Amino acid sequence: MKTQLIDYYDTPPEPEDSEEQVLAGLLAAEKTIAPKFFYDEVGSDLFTRITRQPEYYLTRTELKVLRENAVNISDRIGPDSLLIEYGSGSSEKIRVLLESIRPKVYAPLDISGDYLTESAATLAAEYPWLEVRATCVDYSSDFELPFEIDARPVAFFPGSSVGNFSKAAALQFLERVQCLVGEGGGLLIGVDLAKDTEILNAAYNDANGVTEKFNLNVLNHLNHAFSGNFDTDQFAHVASYNEREGCVQMFLESQSIQCVKIAGREIEISEGERIHTENSHKYSLDEFLAMARKAGFQHHECWTDDQDWFAVIFLS
Ligand SMILES: C[S@@+](CC[C@H](N)C(=O)[O-])C[C@H]1O[C@@H](n2cnc3c(N)ncnc32)[C@H](O)[C@@H]1O
Repeated sequence: MKTQLIDYYDTPPEPEDSEEQVLAGLLAAEKTIAPKFFYDEVGSDLFTRITRQPEYYLTRTELKVLRENAVNISDRIGPDSLLIEYGSGSSEKIRVLLESIRPKVYAPLDISGDYLTESAATLAAEYPWLEVRATCVDYSSDFELPFEIDARPVAFFPGSSVGNFSKAAALQFLERVQCLVGEGGGLLIGVDLAKDTEILNAAYNDANGVTEKFNLNVLNHLNHAFSGNFDTDQFAHVASYNEREGCVQMFLESQSIQCVKIAGREIEISEGERIHTENSHKYSLDEFLAMARKAGFQHHECWTDDQDWFAVIFLS
């Protein structure tokens, strides 16, 4: 029997740094929880379920664009590549491209350690020829890959997760990716494009309530990780498109006056007060490409669906 080619590197954020970040967000005048805290094992599972909801057009549209253009996209990446996927989750999307790329190494990166280990092992079993090097890391911070490979680095960042950053942070992120892949490297990125408000609002308020569960689960994750006592029944899921900001914003709205304990601190929350949990910026193609040029990428190639809802862009 063939031995699986898989290595796992564990470099998650320091718990003290995460705790400090959580408290700073909850003690701020406008309360926030960073979206990376959605992803414990339950959160990662719920996100995979969100991608299957009929209203959540993002995943099926991006997959369609990837499938229809797999040969051209794979040609840009090439078999001599070290293919680094940021926020790989279930690694569903890379499966569309793996056979046509045949990269030297596939390197998924994710903050959700247990989910990453399982997904990477499943993928390695499905593609016995593929060398997989999985790293648990926070990609929103400065980091270095914990291994060296003699191959052309190409990053893959699907799911329009770039939209979760503020515009300033998205520019910084693209600059960091550009540094990591260097001259000769590239970035294949999925970007959700601006569209009708009703379509956006429906996508983040699915009728089965999976996005609601996903949003509320962030409180369970914080309770578990930082000895908290949030009661999810005391919060309601709110998500809507903010036209001025050009993004869908998600909140947890308090249903009562509460005093929550977490990480040894008490957090006062009034009735109707909102904790901001996620932004999902929707870009025009021109705006995104201008940002990519500013970050140092000089060339681009772009593929979209018939309705111009979602763009897959190769930057080099
Ligand atoms: C919206 S999901 C996208 C999953 C998949 N890439 C897709 O396109 O369907 C975001 C993924 O990125 C991971 N993630 C979120 N924030 C992260 C961070 N700061 N560092 C590393 N991974 C992160 C999550 O665990 C999750 O798997």
